[in-house]
Amino acid sequence: MRTDPLTFLTTELDSLRQQGLFRTLRVLDDRQQATSHVDGRSVVNLSSNNYLGLTTHPTLVAAAIKAVEDYGVGSGSVRTIAGTMAIHLELERRLAVFKKTEAVVVFQSGFTANAGTVSSILTKDDVIISDELNHASIIDGCRLSRAPIKVFPHKDVDAARKIVRELPPGQKKLLITDGVFSMDGDLGPLPGLCDVADEYGCIMMVDDAHASGVFGQNGRGTIDHFGVHGRVDIQVGTLSKAIGALGGYVAGSRALIDFLHHRARPFLFSTSHPPSVVATCLAAIDILEQEPAIIDRLWDNTRFFKAGLEALGFNTGISESPITPVIAGEGSLAMKLSDRLFEEGVFAQGIAFPTVARDKARVRTIVTATHTREELQFALDAFAKVGRELGLI
Ligand SMILES: Cc1ncc(COP(=O)(O)O)c(C=O)c1O
Repeated sequence: MRTDPLTFLTTELDSLRQQGLFRTLRVLDDRQQATSHVDGRSVVNLSSNNYLGLTTHPTLVAAAIKAVEDYGVGSGSVRTIAGTMAIHLELERRLAVFKKTEAVVVFQSGFTANAGTVSSILTKDDVIISDELNHASIIDGCRLSRAPIKVFPHKDVDAARKIVRELPPGQKKLLITDGVFSMDGDLGPLPGLCDVADEYGCIMMVDDAHASGVFGQNGRGTIDHFGVHGRVDIQVGTLSKAIGALGGYVAGSRALIDFLHHRARPFLFSTSHPPSVVATCLAAIDILEQEPAIIDRLWDNTRFFKAGLEALGFNTGISESPITPVIAGEGSLAMKLSDRLFEEGVFAQGIAFPTVARDKARVRTIVTATHTREELQFALDAFAKVGRELGLI
């Protein structure tokens, strides 16, 4: 009789169940939009990264359908063999103009853009200086590079400077931060970190996944928001959140992009985007350029919802973006808050350790440009009811 070598997984899952941290996946029965059908229930959806509501935008849907008719459903290969279509190059050209950089390379996701870039440009002889709350894809890229990782306390520019100052001047150094931190919604201190990078000759890299389409002129991101164009060597953006489709990209110098074409493993060893995804992203860039009012609507809703949560007395942390955490403390309490909100018709996902610190479990809310005031007020009323019930306010 064969014994199951994976029984340790069941033990770990049982432990999660005991701590109230075992989650089943919520299932969307229809479209990703402001009010969605999830697990058979109509709920105000505060859990998606669909900041501008582009997942269902008719222009993007039409662009995807036309691309399927024109080019078929798949690219059929990795980029370096036969999977580079003219439409892939057109998207990269448009993104480079949008981001005001020499060139862009698109990856299959923001995750692979971060992990593939960091791991390919550094070796074990180099060093990485990284914010303690940087995204998992940055951390994985750092680990894959085998370069030593020096972590500085969240947003602490002086601490980053102190680390860098003590490193040998000739060593290659990567200073890396998220533009918007995905769990707290606060911004990386780009001007200060760029100063450190300039002073000590670091490569400066920013992951702008949650800033793409949200911050800066027409949604150009935090580099534009802080006015540090030309001082960030590597900008990562995503096409999976505000852009509404799927993908990630790296924007930078021609040399950087040419190098990634030769060394970034997800680019070399994984099939490129289907043409429909690429066409959708092109249509989304048109919207960012031609209809910036959509971004204003996102920010109007953000201000309204944040003010509502704060007026109720919730701990919403230090957010500066449409991501607003409602910090509950204990993991099981955050999950209870999320579950009760869901029963009241509001979908706001609970997030606990190891994604956030053990005592900072929360539900994370993200409003979109397409939420109506009625939907947001409905959500605030549910927060008020459940927050009182659980003693959070
Ligand atoms: C800060 C950050 N970077 C990168 C990513 C990965 O982006 P994508 O979903 O396009 O893989 C995410 C997504 O969760 C993120 O929050």
